[in-house]
Amino acid sequence: MNVLVTGGAGFIGSSYVRHRLDAHPDFSVRVLDKLTYAGRRENLEGLPAERCELVVADVADRDAVRAALEGCDALVNFAAETHVDRSITAPGEFIQTDVYGTYVLLEAARDAGVRHLQVSTDEVYGSIDEGSFTETSPLDPSSPYSASKAGGDLLVGAFRSTYDADALIVRASNNYGPRQYPEKLIPLCVLNALAGDPLPVYGDGKQVRNWLWVEDFASAIDAVLEFGEPGEVYNVGGPDELPNIEVIQRILELTGRDESLISYVDDRLGHDRRYSLSAAKTEGLGWEAAVRFEDGIERTVEWYRENEWWWKPIRGGEYREYYERQYGAGLLSDTSSASRPGVSG
Ligand code: NAD
Ligand code: TYD
Repeated sequence: MNVLVTGGAGFIGSSYVRHRLDAHPDFSVRVLDKLTYAGRRENLEGLPAERCELVVADVADRDAVRAALEGCDALVNFAAETHVDRSITAPGEFIQTDVYGTYVLLEAARDAGVRHLQVSTDEVYGSIDEGSFTETSPLDPSSPYSASKAGGDLLVGAFRSTYDADALIVRASNNYGPRQYPEKLIPLCVLNALAGDPLPVYGDGKQVRNWLWVEDFASAIDAVLEFGEPGEVYNVGGPDELPNIEVIQRILELTGRDESLISYVDDRLGHDRRYSLSAAKTEGLGWEAAVRFEDGIERTVEWYRENEWWWKPIRGGEYREYYERQYGAGLLSDTSSASRPGVSG
């Protein structure tokens, strides 16, 4: 299948594009991405231009979406506003892209007669104290981000029930790995530790997240795209769950820093205590996670250490303004001036 990947210039989407091109050498990928602050051309560098085209457009632009779908046999939708903290201060864009944008894509895929795979999140189920959510657990989102993702998921179900659309959903736990925008916990703490800046811990730091190596999620998405049943949901939980404070302590060890950099700050509003997903149904498609957290976090720190060209411009731009609004001025040292060496893929 030739695939339209919406949001393919972001963190997980670009990992999926790489996986897809490697795993299916006879087919191509078209990326449609608005290139918001989180979407970057750099994330697609090194990929073969003849098999990977980038269309810069909004998923809410009906005509652009329909034109981009021409010649594609399936659509995988990653496009979303994705950061919980930004959704707390400014929810409007989340509803526009994650709900309305999903509707535009669903309608275009239905009219073109192609499969629509919606990429979603464990956060739609809300928080769970013990055990793990399954695909039949009720949706109970807490944040404007997770509520807007749940809205997109409900539309997928409605398009299946009402129009018999070939639409399905994959829901993942927290991803980590190369090219993640440093507003999220792991890259934020890795970059701050490398720079000697404080690492902000929300509340008591004992919230638990279920960590999934991004390339493992990419291979799971492909398994669901190829073998998943229409109308079904597939959960992809990572193999390891950890309290945030242990993640941060591991990052400090790997960057040679001590715990004096830890800075407890006010808790996030409506902060979910624990996420946990069972991956059993997706494993039934023949997929399994290959990378454990111990290994993946080392690889992640190494990637950020070796790819300053990728993140230094970020720490100087929109991100600095966001960081100051979120955490206070003067907390981020200026590491933005380095120029960019040769680039590899
Ligand atoms: P990201 O923020 O890194 O990337 C989002 C991408 O979508 C960017 O390239 C951005 O430019 C693009 N985009 C945003 N609005 C758009 C619009 N209106 N039109 C076109 N493109 C637009 O996000 P990510 O972490 O790669 O997440 C990708 C998907 O996976 C999202 O749907 C997210 O909800 C889901 N997800 C993420 C995680 C995680 O841990 N990061 C976990 C589970 C599910
Ligand atoms: P995040 O990476 O934003 O992902 P999500 O909220 O989607 O799970 O946050 C992961 C966890 O880390 C979450 O419990 C919030 C916490 N956190 C901090 O303690 N400090 C921070 O600066 C950030 C960004 C997150």
